[in-house]
Amino acid sequence: MTLRSLSAAAAVLLGTAMMAFAAPAAERAEARLTLTLEAAGPRIEPAVYGQFVEHLGTGVYGGLWVGTDSKIPNTRGFRNDVIAALRKIKVPVVRWPGGCFADDYDWRDGIGPRAQRPVRLNKVWGNVPDDNRVGTHEFMDFAEMIGAEVYIAGNMGSMPPRAMAQWLEYMTSDSVSSLANERRRNGRDKPWTVKYFGVGNESWGCGGHMRPEYAADLHRQYASFLRAPVIKVASGDGEGNERVTDVMMDLAKDDMDAISLHHYTVPGPWEAKGQAVGFDAQRWAKTLQDVTVGMEEHIAKTVRIMDKHDPKKRVALYVDEWGMWHDPEPGSNPAFLVQQNTLRDAMVAALTFNVFHRHTERVKMANIAQMVNVLQAMVLTDGARMLLTPTYHLFDLYLPFQGATPLKASVDAPRYRQGEVSLPAVDVSAARGVDGSTLLALVNLDPERAARVVTNLAGTATGRILSAAAMDAHNSFDRPDTIVPAPYVAKAVAGKLSFDLPAKSIVVVSIPVPAVAQR
Ligand code: AHR
Repeated sequence: MTLRSLSAAAAVLLGTAMMAFAAPAAERAEARLTLTLEAAGPRIEPAVYGQFVEHLGTGVYGGLWVGTDSKIPNTRGFRNDVIAALRKIKVPVVRWPGGCFADDYDWRDGIGPRAQRPVRLNKVWGNVPDDNRVGTHEFMDFAEMIGAEVYIAGNMGSMPPRAMAQWLEYMTSDSVSSLANERRRNGRDKPWTVKYFGVGNESWGCGGHMRPEYAADLHRQYASFLRAPVIKVASGDGEGNERVTDVMMDLAKDDMDAISLHHYTVPGPWEAKGQAVGFDAQRWAKTLQDVTVGMEEHIAKTVRIMDKHDPKKRVALYVDEWGMWHDPEPGSNPAFLVQQNTLRDAMVAALTFNVFHRHTERVKMANIAQMVNVLQAMVLTDGARMLLTPTYHLFDLYLPFQGATPLKASVDAPRYRQGEVSLPAVDVSAARGVDGSTLLALVNLDPERAARVVTNLAGTATGRILSAAAMDAHNSFDRPDTIVPAPYVAKAVAGKLSFDLPAKSIVVVSIPVPAVAQR
């Protein structure tokens, strides 16, 4: 047995101990979950579990791409270890090449023989050289390798509409046009499918510091020349400025299929966000509040504005950047946005998905920022080494929710209180899985107190739990399996299925049909 498998076995044992764990009644929170088998909304689009890759720090170079000559095992330049990990969590869609980078990117820099591509400075992220080794062909190859749809972010900030239109034609045309033939000469005969196309990014900020009225006009102009069957995504709010959504919807709704929303969870003021590890209980509580209250309200307000302009809900809402944004890891290049990833990040991801599941009528896509080595990453790399973060494991746990239909559920839980923060101690999302089973995601937010959730369901629930003794438990390159999921089983007691949730834990289970609801 290797050290790695030894620690994995230890984690399973820990999980079994947790399974058996039931805190004494006086020490635990008692919650009730009432589930009906009625749908609470349209299905959870798999794209809600999308991801985001930007030319930023080692998010592409080093994290995904090591080059064909690297000693690190790779397929056509992309790391085999990272590809295998990403395939496992079935990434439905990946957004590229930015972010802010997108509005400073000329797609022509990234085509043709790699050795002849220009070296540009990545002016947005640290002024470091980008030799364009990863361009359109490489990114599309990567997306095919992980089995994801692509969401291309076009440049509306610093290139003319013709450049955006030509990029789309280059990628998608099956004609004999010079652009399609250029693609063929560069090694790709068949056109690619570009399902989603973003018309600029954060037009109110790094995308051009535009007024919403101007951005709406520009969106209409640029979108007019995108003559391929793509889902056109307009740049929306990211600062809690409702006017952006309001004006964009008012002036440009007929020229878009979706509008974006960015919501980052920042555990403190922007100038002192706080470290990813070593935080106190107050930061834990405020962080979770930013999701259950902050993200929830941000989406609800945006949906209300969209409803005003688009009552038939034709235009979708894409939360195409979300996740935790901490202070950069000490000693790292601050422009590279490197941060550790702990149990707290996984809790944020779980609560965020629970929020998305409550808004399936509008939220049809979301992209965590970002996939590798940047912000709330799935994977961290260090040279040839790689680790999976708690957020990766959380995506793995929530896999059965891709394509599931949310069910109406109400939770009656005591409050979790910390300083001025007061939240329901338990958060639940329920759904009917694509295989017909009943799915439950149960989150105990309280870092100190266990909870018992008694339901109106019968049967046996099996799944996995993600938890740890410390709020900032994380995986390191030396100890990559410190926090991993463990098996979890819950049985009915006196005919009612109940769940013992250790403090700060996330449980995802499935109950085979029929999960008979009882009064
Ligand atoms: O994800 C990092 C940056 O955050 C993106 O480039 C930008 O769109 C947002 O401000």
